[in-house]
Amino acid sequence: MTNITFIAAGMMLCAATALSAQSLSQPKDEARIDELMSRMTLTEKIGQMNQLNGMGLSKDMRGSVRSGGVGTILNELDTDTINELQRIAVEESRLGIPLIFARDVIHGFKTIFPIPLGQAASWDQSLVEQGAQIAAREASSTGIRWTFAPMIDISRDPRWGRIAESLGEDTHLASVLGAAMVRGFQGEDMSAPDRMAACAKHFAGYAASESGRDYNTTWIPRTQLRETYLPPFKAAADAGAASFMCSFNDINGIPSSGNRWLNVDLLRGEWGYDGVLVSDWGSIEQMIPHGYSADLAHAARQAADAGVDIDMMSHAYDRHLEKLVDSGKIDIAQIDAAVRRVLRMKMRLGLFENPYVRKTADAFYRTDALAAARRAAAESAVLLKNNGVLPLAKGVKKVAVVGPLADSGRDQVGTWCFDAEPEHSVTPLKALRDEALEIIHAPGLAYSRDKSSESIAAAVKAARRADVILCFVGEEAILSGEARSRADIALPGAQTELIRQLRATGKPLVLVVMAGRPLTIGAEVAMSDATIFSFHAGTMAGPGLADVITGRVSPSGHLPVTFPRMVGQVPIYYNHKNTGRPAADITLIDDIPVDAMQTSLGFTSYHLDAGDGPLFPFGYGMSYSTFEYGPVTVSTGPNGTVTATCTVTNSGRCTASDVAQLYIRDRVASLVRPIRELRGFRKFTLDAGQSADVEFKLTPDDLGFWRADETFGPEHGEFDLWIAPDSNSGVPVTFNY
Ligand code: GLC
Repeated sequence: MTNITFIAAGMMLCAATALSAQSLSQPKDEARIDELMSRMTLTEKIGQMNQLNGMGLSKDMRGSVRSGGVGTILNELDTDTINELQRIAVEESRLGIPLIFARDVIHGFKTIFPIPLGQAASWDQSLVEQGAQIAAREASSTGIRWTFAPMIDISRDPRWGRIAESLGEDTHLASVLGAAMVRGFQGEDMSAPDRMAACAKHFAGYAASESGRDYNTTWIPRTQLRETYLPPFKAAADAGAASFMCSFNDINGIPSSGNRWLNVDLLRGEWGYDGVLVSDWGSIEQMIPHGYSADLAHAARQAADAGVDIDMMSHAYDRHLEKLVDSGKIDIAQIDAAVRRVLRMKMRLGLFENPYVRKTADAFYRTDALAAARRAAAESAVLLKNNGVLPLAKGVKKVAVVGPLADSGRDQVGTWCFDAEPEHSVTPLKALRDEALEIIHAPGLAYSRDKSSESIAAAVKAARRADVILCFVGEEAILSGEARSRADIALPGAQTELIRQLRATGKPLVLVVMAGRPLTIGAEVAMSDATIFSFHAGTMAGPGLADVITGRVSPSGHLPVTFPRMVGQVPIYYNHKNTGRPAADITLIDDIPVDAMQTSLGFTSYHLDAGDGPLFPFGYGMSYSTFEYGPVTVSTGPNGTVTATCTVTNSGRCTASDVAQLYIRDRVASLVRPIRELRGFRKFTLDAGQSADVEFKLTPDDLGFWRADETFGPEHGEFDLWIAPDSNSGVPVTFNY
């Protein structure tokens, strides 16, 4: 038995409060900025703060560019148009300041990777970084040099459609993976022609929208904002993210685009962040319907006062800023600070030296990109249940491939991939046809919301002829993403009926669920012999899933978000508080005796019809092997460092991967603390019978939290610590700090 020692990756990124973000300025650039700004008129300065949506080579756009009235353009995709607009900016405008062309490249440009929620299920930061790097390579080849990603909103509500774009519910995991995306997009040197500027979004607290209804109001106490929602942004800033984007929501009554405390006092003051802050689409103007601005001029002033550097499509700045400065309502210094940050970003991108894009053939779908997307699709698959039917046994010859997601190239790429080409998607059906299997295909339903059941019979007939049923269900891509919230998160359409009838055949039934959010699929999982949750897994979803289903790859995904039993449990997340009456003496609704007295049941914290726990907990995921986690040993060293170690063993029959997760609990503190908090993780692979020591090192910051007075730090006392394969398992060890 060989012993290997894994030292977990760097610990808590989010607590680094004292350290200010790395400065994005280079002395040589600052001197050039000073010189350039000394020649700029107020109109030209405001032009740099104006972002317009692409309008091709329209007269208006050419005029705006030539006059210096626009500094950045989003959604212009024609490379020749990009080069021509850039030529006008550089050669015909008075100062020759180049443009930045931007696009939402969230999880791939042409080669689409799993949606970020799926990528988070891989718990593999190098894979996530590689995906971002490939996205940058493909997008930059068309002239796009700024992406509005990573989206790092901590998402605890699966009703919210944009959970699909997020990296899940945990602050630490999102901090680590969000920083990896920033590195992937930007590389070490953002001026490289195959890199692009990142944009950490949406700043901040957007995912806390009440009832999961998009754009809704949020109420977030400062300590929770600092503890839960802000750390991934600090990690992105520390990773050198070139820009941030405002969120649409108000936080406690103040829309983020006008939130001076958030964008100036904290972002610039506390963190020292000197990247660009861009509004979201129209979010400055939307302060009017928010009821925070009386009119566009008022909104322009509030946004400028709140440190928003670029106005995306509100036309607030280009229409009102000049008058506001002339009338003394806005100080020119505020304008200069914003323009400096915009020019700094353009210099970091190398656009003053290399403004034009050189077209490169075969930039898309390269072999390495498809291979990485295939690996990501496999690693984002989470095995939720398996009674042994997976991987497919050698004797399995006939496989029924059914369900509305079995062959939908458009739906498997998921939301926020405007530039995807569904015809390039390799669907599960296409991939499985390349296996040494006899495939019998019958969709059963035409699309995920299909309520007609007449074609279910054909799927059942196919199932009866097969050795195993592979049923691909879930959500169409349109059912998640921006403004795509759902109040009920069950499988749509007649999919449950399809599954029920397939179950009735008695054939081994494997469910593969492809969706943009957790779904309440307890009944469906119960009817299956195995269930894989694959999220929307991108261009190579088919080959990636085929690798898992056939056993070429053991599944290694772990849930980045809690799966509720019922939507009524939402919000439900692993790092919840214990309450004064934690769940105990649970009597479920169907077990309550008739005429039960009011005082005959317990008085603890749970739902009568759902119990107290989730369907599947954060961090959960199976493989084709089994892993044993030995007892955890903890030692405390100098300067309050804590070292935690345990031995993990692959006690199963095949090589497989698992994710060792380190959780802590501060048992008593000046504010009640969560029952568990992720403070580190390590994905590892072991051969059957192999063991390894996994070691984590904690600093005092990793034991700290934001206190009522908004100071940060650890408090002395007892802590519990786990090293476990998910947030619901493991035996804690207690230590004193
Ligand atoms: C959208 C989204 C934002 C995106 C922007 C530009 O409304 O909220 O995430 O980057 O507009 O497309």
